[in-house]
Amino acid sequence: MLRSTMVKAHVGVLLCAVLACYAAAGAEMSNAEKDLEKRLAKRLEWFQDMKFGFFVHWGIYSQWGCIESWPLIEEDKWARPDDLPPWVERKKDMETFKRDYRALNRTFNPRKFEPRTWAEAAKYAGMKYFCFTTKHHDGFCMFDTKQTDYRITYPDCPYSRTAQPDVAKVLFDTFRDEGFAISAYFSKSDWHHPAYWSPDAPAKTRNPNYDTLKNPEQWRQFVDFVHAQIEELMTGYGKVDILWLDGGQVRPPQQDIQMDRVAAMARSHQKNLLIVDRTVGGKHENYRTPEQEVPDKPQQFVWESCITMGEQWSYKPNDKYKSSRQLIHLLVDVVAKGGNLILNVGPTSDGELPPGALERLRDIGDWMKTNGEAIYKTRVLPPYKSGRVCFTRRGGTGYAIYLCEDGQETPPRKVAINGVVPKRGSKVRLLGAKEQLRWEREGQGISVDVPQSVIESPPCKHAFVFKMALDEGERD
Ligand code: GLC
Repeated sequence: MLRSTMVKAHVGVLLCAVLACYAAAGAEMSNAEKDLEKRLAKRLEWFQDMKFGFFVHWGIYSQWGCIESWPLIEEDKWARPDDLPPWVERKKDMETFKRDYRALNRTFNPRKFEPRTWAEAAKYAGMKYFCFTTKHHDGFCMFDTKQTDYRITYPDCPYSRTAQPDVAKVLFDTFRDEGFAISAYFSKSDWHHPAYWSPDAPAKTRNPNYDTLKNPEQWRQFVDFVHAQIEELMTGYGKVDILWLDGGQVRPPQQDIQMDRVAAMARSHQKNLLIVDRTVGGKHENYRTPEQEVPDKPQQFVWESCITMGEQWSYKPNDKYKSSRQLIHLLVDVVAKGGNLILNVGPTSDGELPPGALERLRDIGDWMKTNGEAIYKTRVLPPYKSGRVCFTRRGGTGYAIYLCEDGQETPPRKVAINGVVPKRGSKVRLLGAKEQLRWEREGQGISVDVPQSVIESPPCKHAFVFKMALDEGERD
């Protein structure tokens, strides 16, 4: 009797202890989650302060000047335009085309690759972070993975015989050294891996060519492969700030890559890593990534538009680049709406940034030298845009950015700024000019007089920035 009471008491104590343990574990879990949430929120502020990044698509496809990876997908005819030379040369035969595309690893040899030149050009342009395609959908790895031979450092690839064939490493190190934050683009889908596209069946779409739910073992091999590759990137490449995961079709239920585990593993190596499981949504898409577009107004979430300088992500011979003016206006438009811009350039297969791209990066940099304070670390200032004028705010300072019309090289004599009014009695200045400008109230805003001296020698091209102190009400 006594004994059984004691046993019961013991069991009771034990149970209580276990429950307490669970409760503690539960509390600890949610504390860890809360801590992560706090750190990520801080990191997202840091991210938004940078505003402008450099995106580079570079891989074996650069040799053909074709669209990256997508020509391998039979149903995606848009990726093999009728006049694409390697397509025409193969008499538009899909099998031959695919075979030869895959074999491009055997000729990739970028002899003129100088990472410092890239980093300096991007730095001059005012870019603050660098996103590089460590592996695109075609599966060719631009880093020294141990998980596949289909990589730049394997003897099949001539570039493996150079002193530093791990281009991802060299690029990340060089850009970091120049002060850039690092974003690793990685495709979750892999059209080279036998556990994604089984060699024993035709593969015609971007998805696995077998039923992943009926063949969990095969799918598990793929999951393990992806986890191992991401772990390599998180451990062998120095500090990585952003893991930029492409291939949004890879998501539950059919293509469950187990993102919870990926995120935990990645952050065990890179504590404050931002993760972009793009287009998938949920807690692993820390910010959104509109592609080739800019939202039409400020958003409730953090975002980054990725946009090509030319017509495609990868190198294209004689690509048509947007003009320097268009690119500067694009950056202003994105920033005024509260976003970041990563502007993409496709280097040649030799490893060079095309001259047209370098020229535009210089023009953007010239503009940023004078006007960068209206871009970096700013936030949305309503009404964010009014006519030709975009707005940004940094603390108690407002910026009104006047976008020149086609052909316009100087600021107009009078600029109407609608929707924002400077602090009473304060002065308005034009960035890059010494003069203080006269202004008066006009309608919902002000009208600013631009002196003749400024019109005769404007401080920059393409867009002029008026800086003003804001009323308390405009601050947050
Ligand atoms: C799309 C394309 C891909 C490109 C990416 C860049 O997802 O499929 O080729 O790398 O956009 O944003």
